[in-house]
Amino acid sequence: MCGIVGIVGKGAATPLLVDGLKRLEYRGYDSAGVATLVKGKIERRRASGRIAALEERVNAEPLGGRTGIAHTRWATHGAPVENNAHPHATDKVAIVHNGIIENFAELKAELAAKGRVFASETDSEVIAHLLTVLIDEGMAPEAAFGAALKRLHGAFAVAAIVAGHEDLLLAARRGSPLAIGYGDGEMFVGSDALALAPLTRKISYLDDGDWVVVTGSTVTIHDHNDIQVTRAIKETALSGALIGKGNFQHFMQKEIFEQPAVIGDTLRVYVNPATRAVALPDLPVDLKTLNRIQLVACGTSYYAGLVGHYWIERLARLPVDVDIASEFRYRDPILEKGGLSMFVSQSGETIDTLSALRHAKAQGQKIAAIVNVPESSMAREADVVLPTHAGPEIGVASTKAFTTQLSVLASFAFAAAKARGTMSAAALNELAGAIYEIPEKVSAVLAMDEAIRAAAEIVAPARDVLYLGRGTSYPIAMEGALKLKEISYIHAEGYPAGEMKHGPIALIASDVPVIVLAPSDEWFEKTASNIQETKARGGQVILIADAKGIAKAGSLATATIEIPESHPFVTPILYSIPVQLLAYYVAIRKGTDVDKPRNLAKSVTVE
Ligand code: G6P
Repeated sequence: MCGIVGIVGKGAATPLLVDGLKRLEYRGYDSAGVATLVKGKIERRRASGRIAALEERVNAEPLGGRTGIAHTRWATHGAPVENNAHPHATDKVAIVHNGIIENFAELKAELAAKGRVFASETDSEVIAHLLTVLIDEGMAPEAAFGAALKRLHGAFAVAAIVAGHEDLLLAARRGSPLAIGYGDGEMFVGSDALALAPLTRKISYLDDGDWVVVTGSTVTIHDHNDIQVTRAIKETALSGALIGKGNFQHFMQKEIFEQPAVIGDTLRVYVNPATRAVALPDLPVDLKTLNRIQLVACGTSYYAGLVGHYWIERLARLPVDVDIASEFRYRDPILEKGGLSMFVSQSGETIDTLSALRHAKAQGQKIAAIVNVPESSMAREADVVLPTHAGPEIGVASTKAFTTQLSVLASFAFAAAKARGTMSAAALNELAGAIYEIPEKVSAVLAMDEAIRAAAEIVAPARDVLYLGRGTSYPIAMEGALKLKEISYIHAEGYPAGEMKHGPIALIASDVPVIVLAPSDEWFEKTASNIQETKARGGQVILIADAKGIAKAGSLATATIEIPESHPFVTPILYSIPVQLLAYYVAIRKGTDVDKPRNLAKSVTVE
């Protein structure tokens, strides 16, 4: 979702700003722009579409200046056309904004009554006019910024530059993340540390409600009460290498193939390689006596939560509820004081999940966050963080974050079963062995790349695709359908295999491929019957199963993808890989923008 970069620099700002925007591309956007101060005056270039279009504009009409702000916009209020692209500017100020100003209509009317003329349909533009009016009324830019923030309702991050003030950048964070980068005689702001990675490793993260006055040599942070505060400066470990594509064609492809390594990195934190004992960080609840767990997430992370639901209830006999974050608060859930709510999120910034976390906290719940970004808002607001160690995930469609989330949830279910004494020592030992072998088995699945590429040929011409699975394969069927929708734009649905006869069976036809996930578990025979039912109606089945399953039901399938045999507990992790690769190869076949699919954003910071 929208990305912000700002610089109070020593040299030419525009190339660094545009470069910073490129590192924020993964968040999703549909227009981009940059504004700088040239001889004290605001100048800007904007373009709809890709950053390449903005670069063309800048090449045609170069933009000087050492201080500036830049933005990638993901349209909310108004179409993704140049007029609505940020920065929004008057002759006095230029601003970039991420998030939503909820009271913009009221502010716009008030400012229009004062003679301000608006050039866009955005909510953001009110910030530029509000600041201008306050400065025109005689306020210093810093004071005007602090005062303007008090008039804005909603969740957002904003950065501003002011005509005639070449050594000044103003920025604020309320809801949407914002990082400050410390340089030598130059300072930066950015939506995340990735944007600033090549510029500086010294980063501090603003707390919610903070606003900041930045010059080339100073950073002055104020909290929401305007009290001057300090925020720790940390060395970030992010480097350009971590966020490159290496030898891969796409980030998504690279991230799929990184999974054996990052699953291993994640499991090592929870599973002792020598003893295979599973240990969690200190939890704010006692797993032995806990009555219930509430899991909350969005998108792919929600499907990880659904697998967690099966695992935790099955192994630890601990009741679990799973909610989609955007629905959670509004159904007014019953949350027992002192109970545990777990929030699953790659970014740790998804506003629906973050708002759900805050809601649960306000109800007296203890909060655990399974997040991939350790400095994220969710990580900072949780009582305990169960990190995934996937490394930066750039592809909009989540892959390695998902399987590392599953790795954490598997470790959690194991630890809960142990604490509650719901499994025998022998069963626990067998399970620990299965968890320990996951990275190696994931590598073996990746070696099936060619068979998956061949199956993609069957899927690519389809308009609709069905994914079926039972038990823990059901959430993976939904995740497979989501991956396909996201990057190939083919309509797909994930269904519990047993539910097919209650509706989706009407869709079965030779041009609707049915992808069946059928590991050799307790549900295999039943799923095999569903394959028969599909075949009997002329459907084309792509069967994803182990050798045993393929021997039993492979003859009914148009194509098969073989997955190594494994303990049924770990199959959701292994079966995630073929559905990711299948979506990837279908997207390649269709020529879509795999890493930046249309309309999607990596981190959704609006409700
Ligand atoms: C967006 C992304 C998805 C992601 C979802 C939740 O929709 O495109 O890939 O699963 O947000 O994101 P989170 O960062 O909370 O896991």
